[in-house]
Amino acid sequence: MADLPRDLRDALDAAASGASGAALSTSFKRLSTRYREEVAATAPILKSSTDVVTYSAYRMPATFGAVRAALEQAAASRPGFEPSSQLDLGGGTGAAIWAASAVWPSLKTVTVVEQVTEAIALGKQLAKGAESAAIRDAAWQAGRIDDLGTLAAADVVTVSYVLSELSATQQEKLVGQLAAQRGLVAIIEPGTPTGYERIVTARDQLIAAGHSIVAPCPHSLDCPIPRGRDWCHFASRVNRSAAHRQTKGAELSFEDEKFAYVISTPAIPEPAENRVLRHPQQRKGLVSLRLCTNEGSLEDTIVSKRQGPLYRSARDTEWGDPWPPISTS
Ligand SMILES: C[S@@+](CC[C@H](N)C(=O)[O-])C[C@H]1O[C@@H](n2cnc3c(N)ncnc32)[C@H](O)[C@@H]1O
Repeated sequence: MADLPRDLRDALDAAASGASGAALSTSFKRLSTRYREEVAATAPILKSSTDVVTYSAYRMPATFGAVRAALEQAAASRPGFEPSSQLDLGGGTGAAIWAASAVWPSLKTVTVVEQVTEAIALGKQLAKGAESAAIRDAAWQAGRIDDLGTLAAADVVTVSYVLSELSATQQEKLVGQLAAQRGLVAIIEPGTPTGYERIVTARDQLIAAGHSIVAPCPHSLDCPIPRGRDWCHFASRVNRSAAHRQTKGAELSFEDEKFAYVISTPAIPEPAENRVLRHPQQRKGLVSLRLCTNEGSLEDTIVSKRQGPLYRSARDTEWGDPWPPISTS
C-alpha cells in the first residue's frame, strides 16, 4: 500500500480544510458522474475553485498513485535514467509532477500546462510546501494543449487522465506531438476498457512514429490482448486521508485506483522482462502468473515451491511487476 508523501498529504488536507463540506459534496457528485462518462469535453470540466479543491481531495491521491506506479515501472527498467526536466500536459492540480519527482529526485525543471486557472492556483498553493525544489519552483503555464505547436523539449513528458477529455482528432494530434519528443513519454488513463482503447491507440501511433515501448509492454509488437474481450490495466492502492474519505463519503481507509498506461521512448530500450498482467494466484506450493511476454504473447506460467528462490520471488511478485523480478543487487 502506497502512502502519499507527507508534504503532499499535508497540503491536500490544508486545502480541503478551508472548504465547506456541503459544497465539496455537491461538487464531488457532479465531478464523479462526469468523469465516469469518459467522453470528450467541449468546455473545462473543472469549473470553479470548489471543483478544484474537490478534485484535489478525491481524485489527486489516486491519480498521483497511478502515475507514480507507472513511472516506477519505467524507472525499474531504466536504472541509469536520471531525468532533469519534465513537461506535464493537462496537469490539473499537479498530481503527475509530484509523482515524477517522487520517482526521479533528479528532476530540476518542471513545466505544467493547464487550461483551468483555478487548478493552477491550487496547484501552486499545494506546491509551496513541497520538499522537492522542482515542484516548488514549477512553471505553471495557463493555456490549452491544442494551442501548443511544437512541445518544449523535456526528458519526461506526462499526460495523465487527460486523453478522455479530448476528441479523437485532438488525441491524435497530441500523440503526434508527443512522438516528436526526444524524452520519455508517459500517458496514463483510467483502467477501464475505453481507457485501455485510448492507450492502445496512442501506443500504436507512437510505435508507428518510431518509438519503442518502455512499460508496461515488454515488447513493441501488437498488443496480444484480444480487443473487446479483455483490457490491459493495473491497480495502485492508496491510503485515504480523513479529508479524502469525507469528500467521497467513503468508509474504507484505502482505495484501489485502476489505470492503463503506456510509456515510450524514441531511443532503443533495454530488452524487457515479461509483465505480470493479473493478481498472481497462490495455491499450496504454487504461484500462477499471467504474463505478457517479451515475445508479444500472453502466457500463464506456474512456479512451484521446488523452484526455491524463484518461488519465493513469485510469492512477492505483484500485479504489474516485471517477471522474472529485476535484480537490484
Ligand atoms: C482529469 S484532470 C487530470 C489532472 C492531472 N493530470 C491528474 O492526473 O490528476 C484533466 C485535466 O486536463 C485539463 N485539460 C483537459 N483538456 C485540456 C486542454 N485541451 N488543454 C489544457 N488542459 C486540458 C483539465 O482542465 C484538467 O485539469
